[in-house]
Amino acid sequence: MRMRLKARLYWCIWHLVIFYFIPPSYGNDIPCNLSLSELSVILEPGDILIGVLLPFHIDKTFLKISFTETPPTVSCTRFLLETYQQFQAMRFALDEINKSPTLLPNVTLGFYVYDSCANLRKEQEGTLWMLTGMNKTVPNYCCQEWPRLAAVLGHSVSTYSILMAHILGLYRYPQISHYSTSSSLSDRSQFPSFFRTVPSDAFQSRGLAHLLLYFGWTWVGLVGMGSDYGEQGVYLITQELIKAGACVAFTGFILSNREDKNVPYLTRIIKESTARVIVVFAPDIYFAALLDELLKQNLTGKIFVASEAWSISSMLSAEKYSSALTGAIGFAFSSSPLPGLRGFLNKVRPSNTPGQTITKIFWENIFKCKFMDQGNLTGTWIDSTKLCTGKEDLEMVESSYNDVSNLRSSYSIYTSIQILARSLHNLFSCWNGKETLSGGTCVDAKNFKPWQLTHYIQNAHVKLSNGREVSFDINGDLPAVYDIVNWQLRADGTMKQVKVGSYDTADTNGNIFSINISAVMWAPGDHQVPSSVCSKSCPPGFRRAVIRGQPICCFQCVPCPYGEISNKSGSNECSKCPWNMWPNVDKDRCVPKATDFLSFEEPLGTTLTAATITSSLVPLSVLGLYYCYRSTPIVRANNYSLSCTLLVSLTLCFLCSLSFIGCPQQLKCFLRQVAFGMVFTLCVSCILAKTIMVVLAFMATKPGSSLKKWTGPRVSYIIVSICNILQLCLCICWLSLFPPFPEYNTDTQPEIIIIVCNEGSTIAFWCMLGYLGLLATISFIVAFLARHLPESFNEARFITFSMLSFLTVWISFIPASLSTRGQYIVAMEVFAILSSSWALLVCMFLPKCFIIVFRPNLNSREHLIRRARN
Ligand SMILES: *[C@@H]1O[C@H](CO)[C@@H](O)[C@H](O)[C@H]1NC(C)=O
Ligand SMILES: *[C@@H]1O[C@H](CO)[C@@H](O)[C@H](O)[C@H]1NC(C)=O
Ligand SMILES: *[C@@H]1O[C@H](CO)[C@@H](O)[C@H](O)[C@H]1NC(C)=O
Ligand SMILES: *[C@@H]1O[C@H](CO)[C@@H](O)[C@H](O)[C@H]1NC(C)=O
Ligand SMILES: *[C@@H]1O[C@H](CO)[C@@H](O)[C@H](O)[C@H]1NC(C)=O
Ligand SMILES: *[C@@H]1O[C@H](CO)[C@@H](O)[C@H](O)[C@H]1NC(C)=O
Ligand SMILES: *[C@@H]1O[C@H](CO)[C@@H](O)[C@H](O)[C@H]1NC(C)=O
Repeated sequence: MRMRLKARLYWCIWHLVIFYFIPPSYGNDIPCNLSLSELSVILEPGDILIGVLLPFHIDKTFLKISFTETPPTVSCTRFLLETYQQFQAMRFALDEINKSPTLLPNVTLGFYVYDSCANLRKEQEGTLWMLTGMNKTVPNYCCQEWPRLAAVLGHSVSTYSILMAHILGLYRYPQISHYSTSSSLSDRSQFPSFFRTVPSDAFQSRGLAHLLLYFGWTWVGLVGMGSDYGEQGVYLITQELIKAGACVAFTGFILSNREDKNVPYLTRIIKESTARVIVVFAPDIYFAALLDELLKQNLTGKIFVASEAWSISSMLSAEKYSSALTGAIGFAFSSSPLPGLRGFLNKVRPSNTPGQTITKIFWENIFKCKFMDQGNLTGTWIDSTKLCTGKEDLEMVESSYNDVSNLRSSYSIYTSIQILARSLHNLFSCWNGKETLSGGTCVDAKNFKPWQLTHYIQNAHVKLSNGREVSFDINGDLPAVYDIVNWQLRADGTMKQVKVGSYDTADTNGNIFSINISAVMWAPGDHQVPSSVCSKSCPPGFRRAVIRGQPICCFQCVPCPYGEISNKSGSNECSKCPWNMWPNVDKDRCVPKATDFLSFEEPLGTTLTAATITSSLVPLSVLGLYYCYRSTPIVRANNYSLSCTLLVSLTLCFLCSLSFIGCPQQLKCFLRQVAFGMVFTLCVSCILAKTIMVVLAFMATKPGSSLKKWTGPRVSYIIVSICNILQLCLCICWLSLFPPFPEYNTDTQPEIIIIVCNEGSTIAFWCMLGYLGLLATISFIVAFLARHLPESFNEARFITFSMLSFLTVWISFIPASLSTRGQYIVAMEVFAILSSSWALLVCMFLPKCFIIVFRPNLNSREHLIRRARN
C-alpha cells in the first residue's frame, strides 16, 4: 500500500516538473503546448470560488490505444443520479449560506464543478486546472487573481482524493472530501491540508470487526475493491480480527481494470470456502457484478456484511438480489434529514441550473428521453425514444435523485460546505478566539493565503442542523458515527435497510457499539444468529488443540487431561480443581473428592469392630472366672492381682484398637498411638514382672538366700510402675514436641482424599514401639532361660510362647506397614493389636482356664506341690 502511494507521489512530482519547465507564457503562442482533453466544467460565479470534483460518471469505455492514430478521448459512461443529487445538495448549501444574513454577509460563494469521470488522468487535469485558474493547466502558476479559489471539495473516491491531496498539499490548499474513507488519508505528514466529513475506514474496520465478534463470527471471508479503499479496509479489518483471535478464511479483490472484474476467481473461492460470512468492501456497482455471478451459480446462504460503500445501495435493493442479500448487515454513514432539500431538488430544470450539459444528461437519464440538440451522448438513438421538453416534472418520478430519506454523501457534502463557510466567516471576521493566527494578525479578506484558511478549517466548530457540534481532530477527521443497518425483505420483494444499532465513537456514555438484536432479521432459513466458524466450539470437558498448519480458528477438541476440567464451551485451557475437588465423569464440573478412611460402616471396619468388641469380652470373662476361683491354688499361685491387672490391660488393648477405626479427628489422632503404647506397655510390663517374679521365687527357694524379701507382690508393682513411667515420659515428650494431627493426603491417589493421622514424629512412634519390643524381648529372654525351673506351676514356658508370638506379630508389622497405604495401614495396625493381644491372652490364660474349668482335680495344692517336686 505504502509503495503504491509513494509511486503515485513520484508520478505527480514528475508531472509537475515537466509542466514547470514549460514557461506558461509560451502556452498560447508557441506550438509546444501539450494537448489536454476538453474539460466539461460547470461554473457559478461568486466572490469566492470553491472547486468541486464530482464523478457524475463513474465508469468509462475501455478503448485500446494503439498509438497508430490520435489517441481517443476518454468517454464517460454510467451517469449516477446520486452524484447529481450531491451536486444539487451542494448548491442547496451554498444557496442557504449566500442568503444567510449572519454567515458570510456580503460575500457570495461560487463554484467550479468538474466531472472527473472516475478517471485519474481527467481528475488530475481538473485539479491543476482549478489551481491555475480558468482555461489553463499550468502548474505552479495561478493565472486568476480574483475571484479566488478558496478550497477544493472532493473527491468521493479515496484513490482520487489521494492523488488530489498530493497536489493540493504542495500548496497547502485546503481540501475537504465528502466521501473518501481511506485511512491513509489521515496521515498528516503526507496530506497536511486534507480534511473530510466522513469517518475514516479505520473507524469502520474497527466497528465491523466489533460487529463480527459480537455475533461470534470468527471465520469470515473478505472481499475488497482492488483500490485504496478496499485494500485499506480489508487490511484494517484483518488486523482487528487477528487481534481479537478471529480468522480470515480468504481475501479476494474485485479488480475494476479487468474486463471480468476478477469475478470468476472470487466466485470460486467463495464457493470453496466454508466461511458463511463475507465482508464486502466494495462499491455497489462492482459488488453487483460479483452478485450476478453468484446468483447465476445458485450460490446462496452466505451472509454479507456491508461496508458503507454499498450498505444502503438502492441498486442492490432490487428484487433480483433479495435471495442473496436478505439478512445482510452492515455499516452506513449516519445522517440527518435536510429540511427543504427535496423541494430544492424538484425545482431543478435544465434551464435554471448551471451546468447545462450535465443537467441535460441527468434529464435524459431520469426521464428516459432525449434532447434533440444533444447528439447521441448517452447511448443509441431509437425511434421510439421520447423527446425531452425540459419541462417535465421531477415531482412525478421517484428515484434515487429525489429520495431524501437516506442522505449520506449528500449530507456529507452539505456538512463540508457548512464547515467551509464557517471557516471563511471566521477568517474574514478575524474571529478572536483560540482560532487567530499567530501574533493575532487578521487576514486581508481580498488576499488570504490557502494555508491561512487551512488553519481556520482545522479549528472550526460547527453546529449542524441535527444539533451535533463537530470539529476536526488533529488528523482532519470528524468523530465517526455509523448506523448499523439490516437488509430486510419488503412485501413487494425488494429490500429495505433498517437501522438496528449504531456505532458512535463520540458517544459520551461510552456506548460506542450498540445493537438491538431483536430488531435484526436474518435470511429466511436462519431463525437465530447464524454462525460462521471454522470449527465448532468445544463442549465443556474438552479444550481446543491447534491443528498444525491451520489458522487458529480451525482446531480440534481434545478431552481435558486427567484431573482437569473445562466448565464452559470453547475453552482454550483446562483447569485443575481445588485440592479437595475432583472432576466428574464429564470433566465439566468439580465435585468434592471421596474421602477414604477405615470407617465403622464398611465391611472391613465392621468386622474389625465386631472382632474387637467380642475379643474384649474374653479377658473380662477370664477375669470373672479368676474372681470366682480366686481362692484356688492355681489362681493364687500366679500372683492374683498381677493377673487381674494383666487381664484388665488386655481388655484395654482390645478396646484401644477401636480408636483406630472411624474418621480420624484431632483428639483421636492425638491420643490413639499413645493409648496403644501405654496399654501395651502395661500389658507387657505385667508379663515381665511375672517372669522376673518366677526367677526370683526360684532363687529365693535356695536355702539362705537373701532374695526372700524380694518375692513379695510389691516388687512386681515396682517393675510395672517403672516400665510404665518410662513409656509415659516418652509419650509426654512425643505429644508435647510433635503432637500427631489428622492429615488429608491427596498425593498417593489424586482422586480421593485419604484422611490419615500424621504421627507428628515417626521416630517417636518407632521409639515407642521399640520400647515395647525391648520389654517384650527382655521378657522373652528371661522366660526362655527360666523355662525349666521347677517352680510350682511354672509359667515361664507360656510367657516364652506369648512373647515370641507378640514379637512375631509386631516384627512382621514393620514391613507390612511400610508397604501399605491409606486405610489398610490402619487395618494392619488394628489387626496387629488384635492378634498380639490374642496371642498374649491365649498363651497366658488358656491353659489355666482349661484346668480351672475342665480339670478341677488338678487345681489342688497337693497336685501343685507334687508337680513342683518333680
Ligand atoms: C496549442 O495552442 C494553440 C493556441 O492556443 C492551439 O491553436 C494549438 O492547437 C495547440 N496545439 C496543440 C497540439 O494542441
Ligand atoms: C454589507 O454591505 C452593505 C452595503 O454595501 C454595508 O452597508 C454593510 O455594512 C456590509 N456588511 C458587512 C458585514 O460588511
Ligand atoms: C475560457 O474559455 C472559454 C471558451 O474557450 C472562454 O469563453 C472564456 O472567456 C475563457 N475564460 C477565461 C478566464 O479565459
Ligand atoms: C440454478 O438453479 C436453476 C433453477 O433452480 C437451474 O435451472 C440452474 O441450472 C441452476 N444453475 C446452476 C449453475 O446450478
Ligand atoms: C447518432 O446516432 C445515429 C444513429 O445511430 C448516428 O448515425 C450518428 O452518427 C450519431 N451521431 C453522433 C454524434 O454520434
Ligand atoms: C428492539 O427492536 C424490537 C423489534 O423491532 C423493538 O420492539 C424494541 O423496542 C427495540 N428495543 C430497543 C431498545 O430499541
Ligand atoms: C467455571 O469455573 C470458574 C472457576 O473455576 C468459575 O468462576 C465459574 O463460575 C465457572 N463457570 C460455570 C459456568 O460454572
